[in-house]
Amino acid sequence: MATPHIAAERGDFAPAVLMPGDPLRAKRIAETVLEDARQVNNVRGMLAYTGTVDGKPLSVMGSGMGQPSITIYATELFSQFDVERIIRVGTCGGLSPKVKVGDVVIGVGAHTESAMNVPRLPGVHFSAVASYNLVAAAAQRAGANAHVGTIISRDHFYLTPEGQNERLARYGVLGVEMEAAALYGVAAEFDKEALAVLTVSDNLLDSSEDMSSAERETLFEKALDAALAAAFC
Ligand code: HPA
Repeated sequence: MATPHIAAERGDFAPAVLMPGDPLRAKRIAETVLEDARQVNNVRGMLAYTGTVDGKPLSVMGSGMGQPSITIYATELFSQFDVERIIRVGTCGGLSPKVKVGDVVIGVGAHTESAMNVPRLPGVHFSAVASYNLVAAAAQRAGANAHVGTIISRDHFYLTPEGQNERLARYGVLGVEMEAAALYGVAAEFDKEALAVLTVSDNLLDSSEDMSSAERETLFEKALDAALAAAFC
């Protein structure tokens, strides 16, 4: 039974879904990690694949950019396709001086200036937190390669209030991305599991740090490996 944004049947998705923002990255992940992958969605080009890893079922699907987009796909996957856990695999801008380009960030909790979670618990500032068992599995696999802590999910990519990045860094916020807080909210709504495992793609407080796209691709593999540990824990 299709939903407005996913033209698939119940049973077409595995209980665990890896979710990069970019649908073409979903395709590349499917080509590199899945055996017997089949495409299960292409509505609006939001490619999704289901296959197996060492005999265990796994799906990979793009989320698009931003909190409204991931909310639509996560809501439909959790409520209509029996998905139990979604692990976002993406990039973040580094904030804390502790994180370097190429490091892995495991987002235990996500601050946000977005209103996406506001209607969930009227009168309450919703705590957007990852599922502890997924955090533990990803952190154990990534070991010393990963930073485990808070992130911020912003709606704006280009507009940042003056001094906010510095202030967030002082509060120990590791990185900036655009989806996790909403994903954690949807998981809470449906009593399901969620996590964001991110690769630091650039440093917002020190733009001298940079790396080649080839280096980025290898470093993305560390995050993918940690995400797979969470998918199958
Ligand atoms: N802002 C938001 N999302 C991001 C960034 C950023 O600077 N870098 C990578 N994803």
